[in-house]
Amino acid sequence: MTTLNLIAIRDGENNGGFYSPAKEKASIRGPYQHRFHIFWRLRRIAKLKFFLLVFCALCGVVLFSSRISSSFGWNVHSPSSAFSPSRGGYTVLMNTWKRNSLLKQSVAHYASCRGTDAIHVVWSESDRPSDSLKTYLRKKVMAKSRAALKPNFKFDVNEEDNLNNRFKPIKDLRTDAIFSVDDDVIVPCDALDFAFTTWQTAPSSMVGFVPRMHWLSEKKDTHASYYYGGWWSVWWTGSYSMVLSKAAFFHRKYLDMYTNQMPASIRDYVTRERNCEDIAMSLLVANATAAPPIWVKGKIHEIGSYGISSLQDHSSKRHKCLNDFVSLYGNIPLVSTNVKAVDARNEWFW
Ligand SMILES: *[C@@H]1O[C@H](CO)[C@@H](O)[C@H](O)[C@H]1NC(C)=O
Repeated sequence: MTTLNLIAIRDGENNGGFYSPAKEKASIRGPYQHRFHIFWRLRRIAKLKFFLLVFCALCGVVLFSSRISSSFGWNVHSPSSAFSPSRGGYTVLMNTWKRNSLLKQSVAHYASCRGTDAIHVVWSESDRPSDSLKTYLRKKVMAKSRAALKPNFKFDVNEEDNLNNRFKPIKDLRTDAIFSVDDDVIVPCDALDFAFTTWQTAPSSMVGFVPRMHWLSEKKDTHASYYYGGWWSVWWTGSYSMVLSKAAFFHRKYLDMYTNQMPASIRDYVTRERNCEDIAMSLLVANATAAPPIWVKGKIHEIGSYGISSLQDHSSKRHKCLNDFVSLYGNIPLVSTNVKAVDARNEWFW
């Protein structure tokens, strides 16, 4: 009927518009019929949309289930293959300070991650770790590990309490990758695996979960001063130039560079201020690579009730560290970026 009408209209036009059966019909049909016609068409469109929606939902379900079961034969090489003995895993380098209950929790957690080749706890308390703590943690590591080769577990005991201890070179390392972490930070194993595979694509970069930024505050002649930007400034601007060593991967060579090649004045500063070893490490890596670090998407959990960062004078101390280090370097080696690494399997939209 519609096609007939259309042809009729065309005909009418061809005839110079003198006669139109469609117009005539419309005048006969009246307003009620016209409305009914629209209603009917709308219903058809709604039906079509409904079927489209159902179709999309079905596709979603199929796609989702195929991702879970790999029933479509898209059984890609899983990232766990990254931990084959030939490629190596990573060494967890954990800094702790008088928080044995937190230490027990995090050691147990990191022992359960498949990529963990070894766990080194940096111990700087005046009392050596007790035998009972050692035995407890060794047993815990054995019990929690799911790897065929159980992770090495070791305390690196230091004579003096010094924040530089956390970056002392380790003798019997089997991996190039170091995962530096605080005793109160838990990174879920899958996020850790992902960060490790990211690091493997850029092994001289620092790859981590806690981004920070430097901001130019003023520039006079050759002298520039900077602000240290906390998480909210990174959130607001999407820019960062450091990742903190409280949860980051880096190459073992940086332990040696930090301890033996970095200017002693920076280490002295860290000793004196009991702070900023993480900023020092970020500057060191940035100076060595002339490239930004890599921020990896992933939720981390801070299990301690408080950290240094909650202290009042923290941010002014951080501004000062940054500026003092920068003046020691002579220029600012930090490079900022907006790149963030995400696991494509967890992204729903392309
Ligand atoms: C920064 O890197 C350059 C070039 O690699 C090096 O010569 C210099 O000593 C480094 N600066 C510091 C303060 O480590």
